[in-house]
Amino acid sequence: MSTLPITADQLSTPDVIANPYPWYHELREQSPLNYEFLPAGAVSGMNEPVKAWALMRYADVYGALRNHETFASNHSLAGKVVPRLALIHDDPPRHTRFRHLVNKAFTLKRIETLKPWITTVVNELVDEMAASQETEFMQAYAIPLPVKVIARMLGIPGEDYVRFKLWSDTFLAFSSMTPGERAKSNQEMMAYFGQMAADRRTQAAEDLITALVEANVDGESLADAEIIGFCMLALIAGNETTTNLIGNMLGILVDRPDLWQQLRADRSLVDRVIEETLRIESPFQRLSRIATCDTALSGVAIPQGSLVTIYYGAANRDPAEFPNPDEFRLDRDLRNHVAFGMGIHYCLGAPLARAEASITLNTLLDRFPVIERGREPALRQTTSLMVYGYQQLPLNLRASN
Ligand code: HEM
Repeated sequence: MSTLPITADQLSTPDVIANPYPWYHELREQSPLNYEFLPAGAVSGMNEPVKAWALMRYADVYGALRNHETFASNHSLAGKVVPRLALIHDDPPRHTRFRHLVNKAFTLKRIETLKPWITTVVNELVDEMAASQETEFMQAYAIPLPVKVIARMLGIPGEDYVRFKLWSDTFLAFSSMTPGERAKSNQEMMAYFGQMAADRRTQAAEDLITALVEANVDGESLADAEIIGFCMLALIAGNETTTNLIGNMLGILVDRPDLWQQLRADRSLVDRVIEETLRIESPFQRLSRIATCDTALSGVAIPQGSLVTIYYGAANRDPAEFPNPDEFRLDRDLRNHVAFGMGIHYCLGAPLARAEASITLNTLLDRFPVIERGREPALRQTTSLMVYGYQQLPLNLRASN
């Protein structure tokens, strides 16, 4: 890249968010490295930039994810930059108790029973796309599908899903909104879920919020704040990520017409496409931990109290773990990618995300022999530090040549 050499302080800039991979390759050998994670003023009341240690080597990322005692999740920015979320900002024993409870709602069996409904929604969205020549795939499909699915699981009325999307976007948008705008949106979201929990306490329904309201672990039930925290987490962790998995997967396949035909003939490859997409274009790029004691990674000392940023996307392209990491290949051993994390915080929604991606790809392969780029350019998103994906992905999906 002509803009190199670069420094780690550029990691939060729009250019890097749009395509972080050249930066990762440049910086990985120096990692763990101390850098400016957030500029001064990004957190209200903090006039200094926020520094953190970036972990970009697979071995360091894997090690930190497996060692939740040393690299804890309840870090100093939770509740400041972002509202505190259940699970993702919790450490044991609180995490263990809560995870045990919500695990039941996300079992493979539960996801299996949802599949027919997801297939119906997928077909409805695909019907709408099929009606027009060129589709902006993100708006027409990749955004609405996960929002509709999570809304249905939580028990949210279908028409509220547009508001859902706005809250979720605002939560993740660091550079395009003021702290005040973000706080207002987060408060609205919390009030909405608080009202939902109160409603379910008086009238039970067949949904996840009712299950959380009625849940009981060792004689203890969940407080409203915990239920609200979980709903926000499901909305935020579940939507943007799955949207970007589906968008990134189509963005990769549209340039590989031979592979599209191969997949049409052999659906046993669909799962491998999903896993390799998760590795090579990881939808979830980074998340913070805090060092609970003085420690070291790759020989670099990390003092107690330091913020540490896990770069899942960089680890997934570390040549030490994945040879020729920038090549999209279906013959890799993909069991170790960290796109869904690892250890006690391993993604709760992984089976759901995989199911949505698989139903999507199988349906599109069934319906469209031809996939091409649209006339408008594809654009990557540049506002969210956490996700990697498209803002705009124009596609031409055709039922015949
Ligand atoms: C492709 C889609 C997705 C990706 C790439 C993804 C990625 C991740 C990652 C990397 C983590 C680990 C965070 C950590 O290390 O602390 C995580 C945790 C989590 N994810 Fe996902 N996620 C996806 C979809 C979903 C969906 C659909 C849900 C459903 C609600 C979900 C809910 C969660 C929850 C609740 C956690 C926290 C688990 C814990 O702390 O115990 N995710 N996700």
